[in-house]
Amino acid sequence: LTAAKFAEEVLTWQHQHGRHDLPWQQPATPYRVLVSEIMLQQTQVSTVIPYFQRWMQALPTLEALASANEDEVMALWQGLGYYSRARNLQKAAHYIVHELNGKFPEELESIQKIPGVGRYTAGAIRSFAYDTYGPIVDGNVRRLFCRIFGIEGPPTSSAVNKELWQYAETLTPEKNNRRFAQGLLDLGATLCTKRNPSCQDCPFASSCVAFQEQRITELPNPKAK
Ligand code: ADE
Repeated sequence: LTAAKFAEEVLTWQHQHGRHDLPWQQPATPYRVLVSEIMLQQTQVSTVIPYFQRWMQALPTLEALASANEDEVMALWQGLGYYSRARNLQKAAHYIVHELNGKFPEELESIQKIPGVGRYTAGAIRSFAYDTYGPIVDGNVRRLFCRIFGIEGPPTSSAVNKELWQYAETLTPEKNNRRFAQGLLDLGATLCTKRNPSCQDCPFASSCVAFQEQRITELPNPKAK
């Protein structure tokens, strides 16, 4: 399975079976991608959707978020939990508006300097907002890669983490990055699920180590208790 073939399969599958009507996909501006990705970090899609829509009505731009009062920001987040995420989002807006003259950064390293933005979110902004090269590894991608490539070891270990990011960097194509990244997340969320994955519908079934060796329940290895 070459990188080119892998990307081609993900792109074709996403086009035919992936999600195309998530609210942050239209339009996928850097601000909307940032807010949605931070909301999605610890919260599932169906819960995030109404929060995201309410937030964008109230705070449609980075400038609006930067100048909003903190109480309003916290009220919009009320119910999502992990409230440091909301405070970080406002810090992010302050940083971009005041330190970067309102210009949202475009390079991977500069995006990662935004408060609250790590490697995953930076890659997601590159892919979803700019449609440029931006590798991503989240829980969905981790499960997908561990199964397809038979990656062993405690899923949170730094060795496994390093391996997963190396796969992501190698497999991420140079174009169609928006569709590719959405395809990885959609495969992980809708098909390569934690329990009872739909291997019969998976474009990678013939090369998937977990499926071929009937080790779907073992891969990824469970987290250490
Ligand atoms: N989870 C994290 N980011 C997502 C996205 N862009 N679409 C669907 N699920 C996601």
